Amino acid sequence: MDDLFEPYERLIRLVVAGKELQVPENNLLLRQLSYVAPDISSGRYCWNGECRYCEVSYRTETRGTEQSALACRVKGQAGMRVTKLALEMRYNLAETLAAAPKANE
Ligand code: FES
Repeated sequence: MDDLFEPYERLIRLVVAGKELQVPENNLLLRQLSYVAPDISSGRYCWNGECRYCEVSYRTETRGTEQSALACRVKGQAGMRVTKLALEMRYNLAETLAAAPKANE
């Protein structure tokens, strides 16, 4: 499974739906989330920008306004806050998010 990831040195902190997750830096957001939610790897994702099952809304530390993106097209950055997830992602992340610690606001 490690072959799926781009090389990384450390984990970075993301906030997803109000929960803290630690994911490998330097990877696409969808791949990063598969690190903590392996179900994503077997989900119905096209991984090439067509299905939109990976659509998210997020804010970064440098840009406070909400942006939409495809998680198979953007890399998660330290401090990124993912505020909305497409249904398929919510399904695949449900157990992970339920178990993850709540992020401090
Ligand atoms: S996985 Fe299909 S658009 Fe991102």
